[in-house]
Amino acid sequence: MRNLMVAGNWKMNGDSVMASTLIDDIVVGFKGYDSCELLICPPFPLLSLVANKIKGTSLLLGAQNLSEHKSGAYTGEISASMLEDMGCQYVIVGHSERRAIMRETNEMVAEKFHAAVNNGLIPILCVGETLEQKNQEQTTQIIEEQLKSVMGTNADSMTNAIIAYEPVWAIGTGLTATPEEAQHIHHFIRNTISSISQEIADKIQILYGGSVNGDNAKGLFSMPDIDGGLIGGASLTARDFLSIAKATNK
Ligand code: 13P
Repeated sequence: MRNLMVAGNWKMNGDSVMASTLIDDIVVGFKGYDSCELLICPPFPLLSLVANKIKGTSLLLGAQNLSEHKSGAYTGEISASMLEDMGCQYVIVGHSERRAIMRETNEMVAEKFHAAVNNGLIPILCVGETLEQKNQEQTTQIIEEQLKSVMGTNADSMTNAIIAYEPVWAIGTGLTATPEEAQHIHHFIRNTISSISQEIADKIQILYGGSVNGDNAKGLFSMPDIDGGLIGGASLTARDFLSIAKATNK
């Protein structure tokens, strides 16, 4: 039995005033619920504020990116050990916005993934196809490449990792994959991992992301291979984020 997880990716939003109110409301509203793990991924400058606010609660903390390097002359970069030091247990790796805007390649994403694993952080590896790739029926090929460039021929690095399937065409657009469409790809992802390790494939959490909201979450989370969600826009409002978390009551 896999635990369900709902993760909020705040992206580049918020300031200390907004974050304080939002996290206080989430902590209060989530009290007494245990149907999912709840993870918050604020921008770097708000990590320590959120870390302090969630101390003593069941909420988890993650970052949205990390450097592939350990330390040194990389101005503006943030290392895995710095994230750990700030109280992060998780880090998002290879989000499609970073792949598209910051030109992160599969090779860079793999280096970041391993930097996280080597420092005891749990990477959330984002995979997903663009609309053009979907229309050209390249979805599974693209996802297989994204997965295999990270796990190679040895799935061991996936022992402590999470996958997020985020179709690029569904991010911030209000369009979501139907539960059946998403389930099909989640099953494909699990199958791809099982070709290397059945045990890891059975255990790994695979989250869905892309315009998840309180109305569509239940249908998505009721699918056998969907283990929760990675939430963008709706994670910026406590009421919406909590309604998604509560939809994990399968
Ligand atoms: P939205 O929920 O805003 O579509 O964003 C999804 C996402 O990119 C989460 O990482």
